[in-house]
Amino acid sequence: MSARPIRIGPSILTADFLRLGEELSAAETAGADFVHVDVMDGVFVPNISVGLPLVEAVRRATRLPVDVHLMIVDPDRWVERFIAAGADVVTVHVEAATHLHRTLRAIEEAGALPSVSLNPATPLNAIYEVIPMLRQVLLMSVNPGFGGQTFIPSALDRIRRLRAELDRRNPSCFLQVDGGIKASNVQRVAEAGADTLVVGSAIFTPDHSVEDGLHALRAALAATPAR
Ligand code: DX5
Ligand code: ZN
Repeated sequence: MSARPIRIGPSILTADFLRLGEELSAAETAGADFVHVDVMDGVFVPNISVGLPLVEAVRRATRLPVDVHLMIVDPDRWVERFIAAGADVVTVHVEAATHLHRTLRAIEEAGALPSVSLNPATPLNAIYEVIPMLRQVLLMSVNPGFGGQTFIPSALDRIRRLRAELDRRNPSCFLQVDGGIKASNVQRVAEAGADTLVVGSAIFTPDHSVEDGLHALRAALAATPAR
């Protein structure tokens, strides 16, 4: 198990948007560490989700840090506006950023924490040069675009290898993992070296309450590691 405290952030993608304020306060009360907002443009990923007005609404509705995951082409055009809307952390995709160094600097200069994401097929070394600039790396454990997908098992080895590289180049950098995380696999994800977990459909679901979802994840993390 990683020595770092494990942070869990609900992704609102599968939340009930008409009751979003209640959903967010339930998550906050149940001990969520941040709120993850998935922004999709229908071009970088085959889905369209939410944009600036929803980030503003989330910002007003919670005291938790707002972590914005931009699944959009040409992120340089948008990062300042998402930060003005309330993003505390901004993640851009390495596959979508032509001038990644400039984009990360723009995020930092606008007052948010810079983070970069890699899709499951993207070589880890695509971000090695910018690791010293980062506060977080987001490793996708599904192909981005939809909630409720199945965790891709090869992500575990990628988490291990990326954590080792972060420890060499920027030990305080957070390693966030996003996609298919649930109580049945959360311990393996944390043991591999993830410290920041995005969880959508295992928290926001018609099947159980937000509290029960978060408690099940925490209980699974606290259980004796399976060896
Ligand atoms: C996928 C998004 C994820 C998604 C996670 O493109 O980036 O944040 O909402 O949802 P689950 O946990 O259901 O895979
Ligand atoms: Zn996401």
